Parts: sequence; C-alpha cells; structure tokens
Amino acid sequence: MPSIGVVGVGGWGKNHLRVLDDLGALSCFCDIDETKIKMFEERYQVKGYNNLDDMLKSEKLDAVTICTPSSTHYEIAEKTIKFGLDTFVEKPLTYKSIEGEKLVKLAKEKNVILTVGFIERFNPAIIELKNLLRSKKLGEPLLLEFHRENVWTGKVKDVGVIMDTAVHDIDTARWIFEEEPKITYARTGKVLNEHEGPDFATITLGFSGQKTAFIVANWLTPKKIRELEVVCIKGIITIDFITQELRIDSDEGTIIPRRKWEEPLLIELKDFIKCIKERSEPLIKGLDGVNVTKIVEASMISHETGSPIYLSL
Ligand SMILES: NC(=O)c1ccc[n+]([C@@H]2O[C@H](COP(=O)([O-])OP(=O)(O)OC[C@H]3O[C@@H](n4cnc5c(N)ncnc54)[C@H](O)[C@@H]3O)[C@@H](O)[C@H]2O)c1
Repeated sequence: MPSIGVVGVGGWGKNHLRVLDDLGALSCFCDIDETKIKMFEERYQVKGYNNLDDMLKSEKLDAVTICTPSSTHYEIAEKTIKFGLDTFVEKPLTYKSIEGEKLVKLAKEKNVILTVGFIERFNPAIIELKNLLRSKKLGEPLLLEFHRENVWTGKVKDVGVIMDTAVHDIDTARWIFEEEPKITYARTGKVLNEHEGPDFATITLGFSGQKTAFIVANWLTPKKIRELEVVCIKGIITIDFITQELRIDSDEGTIIPRRKWEEPLLIELKDFIKCIKERSEPLIKGLDGVNVTKIVEASMISHETGSPIYLSL
C-alpha cells in the first residue's frame, strides 16, 4: 500500500482519514487545529502534525490528499507536487484557473499524479448512467437538469455556491456529454452575507448541437436535494445522488434497477491508490479541474454582465 498523508481533517477530510485508514494507506495527517490533531491521533493511531512542512520533512510519503478550504488548495498543492508527491486535491482544484494551470504544468515536470475530487464520477448511479448511455438504448442524451440544494451549513466561507457546490454538476455534465461546453449563461444572487460569492445560482451550459445542461444550486433550500434528470431521445433517466437510485422511463415502462449502495469516496480513493501503484492516468485529470474553474469564472462574468459567455476550452 502507498503511504498517504491527509492535509486538513475538518468536515470532509475526516472522511478521507476514515477511508484511507480502512484501506490500510493512512500514514499521517496535518491540520492547523490542535484539537482535531489530538482527537484523530487517538482515533487512528497515526501522527498528526500542526503544519505541512513538518509532515513532509518527517514522513516518507508517496502521496497526499488535500482537504483544506478551497482558497488554500493552490499553495498547498504547489508544495506537495514540488516535493514529488502524487497529489489528490479536493474540488475545486484551485480558486483561479491560472493557478490550476500552473499546478498541471508543475505535476507534468515532476512526473507526479494530479487529480481532483469530483466525486460524483465515482457515484455508482453515475457509473451505471454512463454504461446505459454507452449502450445507446435510449438514444443520445440531450438535456441534463441538475438540482443541488441545501441550507448553508455555515462552514464554507471562502467561496460561493458555484465554486463550492455547482462545480460537481459542471464536471458531471462534461463527463456525460464527453465534451466541453461552448457557452454559459448564469444568474446568481446572494441573500446571506457570511461567505464570499453567491448563495444561489442557475447556470445554463450549451454543448455542441442541441445538448444543454441546466444547473440549479443553492444554500437556501431547507432540505438536501441532489438530483439529475437526463432527457434522452427515447426516454428519461432520473438519478438521486444520495440514495443512488436510478430510474428509467421509456415507452417500455419504468425500470428501477436494484443495486447495493456503495460509498463514492471509497471507490474514489481506491482508484487514486490504483493509479499510484500502477503509475496510470487518473480518471479525473488536472486539466478537468482547470476547465471546471474556467467555466465557473465565465459563469460569474455572465452573471455580472447579464450576457452569455462563449467558451473556448
Ligand atoms: N468531494 C466532496 O463531496 C466534498 C464535500 C465537502 C467538502 N469538500 C471539499 O473539501 C475541502 C474541505 O472542506 P471541509 O468542508 O472539510 O472544510 P472544513 O473547514 O470543515 O475543514 C478544513 C480543515 O482544514 C484545516 N486547515 C485550514 N488551513 C490549513 C492548512 N494550511 N494546513 C492544514 N490544515 C488546514 C482546518 O483547520 C479544517 O480542519 C474543500 O475544498 C471542499 O470543497 C469536498
């Protein structure tokens, strides 16, 4: 097993600790919060550091996963890549696309793996959807409608709902259509004032031909909704990302295939470990992270100007 260190063990990083520990790949972790260090050292019996430099100097690591707030990803990933470590960065790769481009270049120079935590690609319902679309039983997908809604938990402060939340669906739309969008039109707004950026957004992404993705994201709905409807020429597929239920409606009736629930993070981190061992290309490349951030940047310009923005990715 490769030796992996987790950087940032807050709300989400603690799940990386648990899963990597289960997989036998957890070597150490670091966080600036001493209470968390004490708690997780006891729970996992590995050393916790209060700064990244000490962790890198003291441990013999193969890789890290970075689970710190989004605005810190660039500085931390730059350091771990320069150190020659395979690096998994939680989404979004970076706050600014230019920083992501620098990381992609650096990872290439240092010959290390750089991947991004767009976890929905590892959601069993999305894996099944991709297989179904490849079989062409329902014809081409034309329209995607995503809903990712939740009340604001008060934790994310450094970015808004597009950069924090809609990025999942921007990436999934690119993954389903297997191409980059050509145009974005966004309307966003803010009624809460405790964080950077908007807290509700609708984004329309235009792909080649008539293919369109409509993304609704907000931190206002008092109920957790994570849904996708895929309208194909010969039927509709509906997905609940939380229950992982997939429902197919067509002329032949309704089918709900039975499947066991699996933790997407476990599948995702197993895949990262496989790439480290086999030196293979990750499913999600650094460039995916850069392009998603570029789409977010263009969507914000669209909101500010009230105009659609053409993309050339
Ligand atoms: N893939 C997913 O589904 C998913 C879900 C939630 C969060 N995330 C991502 O995970 C990241 C963290 O989110 P969160 O909700 O856990 O945030 P959080 O604020 O709960 O945790 C962040 C942790 O990082 C620590 N930290 C901050 N700066 C640090 C530094 N320089 N060095 C070491 N530790 C540092 C903080 O003390 C905190 O414990 C974000 O990028 C977020 O977008 C991904």
